[in-house]
Amino acid sequence: MTHAPLVLSGMQPTNTLHLGNYLGALKNWVRMQEEMPCLFCVVDMHAITQDVGYGHPAELAQATREVTAAYIAAGVDPRRSPIFNQGQVPEHAELAWIFNCVARLGWLDRMTQFKEKSGKHKERASVGLYTYPVLMAADILVYKATHVPVGEDQKQHLELARDIAAKFNNDFGVPDFFPQPEPVITGAATRVMSLRDGSKKMSKSDESDASRINLTDDADTIANKIRRAKTDAGELPDSEKGLEGRPEAENLINIFAALAEKPKQDVINHFAGQMFSTLKGQLTDLAVAKLVPITGRMKVLLADPGEIDRILKDGALRARSIATPIMDDVKKAVGFVA
Ligand code: TRP
Repeated sequence: MTHAPLVLSGMQPTNTLHLGNYLGALKNWVRMQEEMPCLFCVVDMHAITQDVGYGHPAELAQATREVTAAYIAAGVDPRRSPIFNQGQVPEHAELAWIFNCVARLGWLDRMTQFKEKSGKHKERASVGLYTYPVLMAADILVYKATHVPVGEDQKQHLELARDIAAKFNNDFGVPDFFPQPEPVITGAATRVMSLRDGSKKMSKSDESDASRINLTDDADTIANKIRRAKTDAGELPDSEKGLEGRPEAENLINIFAALAEKPKQDVINHFAGQMFSTLKGQLTDLAVAKLVPITGRMKVLLADPGEIDRILKDGALRARSIATPIMDDVKKAVGFVA
């Protein structure tokens, strides 16, 4: 049996979104809406696995609205693709519990992101942080989603989701019940790097605000950050090979290519033999042209929080209408209902 194509993706409502989220995720989501039915989730249940989201209810609710506004401002159409927060769709938690009993400790022990996020004091991390990838598998499979646009760093979690799906199907004797969800890793700039260090990912948790372009930055801020972006001493190369060992040059070229929606090689040809200042000037114009309208739309949306709340509520109802019949079948398969 083949499963009907369905996209599901999500982002955590923590801090401000940045250029990496836009180029690595949102921009692809907008395109995928044209190709398949999509669901977009704000993963507030994941946000409470760590201190940033835990114990700050007002901030969490506001961050959920901000991320929702960013989805819409970037071009996700909530009438076409339901946008909802996990916390309003109880089926995620229900399936996650069952999946906690399907997944093996040994599988979770291999998850590299838990090791990074829990740091030196693993015993102080929440149990939720440990079982985070199991909830993520439930996010996807509670809708039988088949395609999951994610960054490279989430590939291991997707593999776990596939393992959980296969083990559930096998152990409960329901062959092919859950699909094997595919990661969709797209775009030249899937990995947008820090403007201060081309070997580090652009991240909302980086201490230096100059390391990232936030989706809330105005034109002057964007211009300043690009002007101050780290460079090296050389001219820009004329080939992809010439970018090797020059992570800052490569990052700026990648960002330019992704924003301009042009092949990387065309951008390399365009700037070959030029100084960084030329690239930075043109990149500033391009980034301002693409991002400032998104920022503007976000502001307009956030001025009416009631409307965002209505969009989330409506999205949750539509998401539940897909998840409920699937959970009915899961409950039968497990033996919760005869
Ligand atoms: N873990 C993902 C991230 O940090 C967020 C996420 C949670 C997600 N559930 C998901 C992404 C389901 C895709 C599908 O980026």
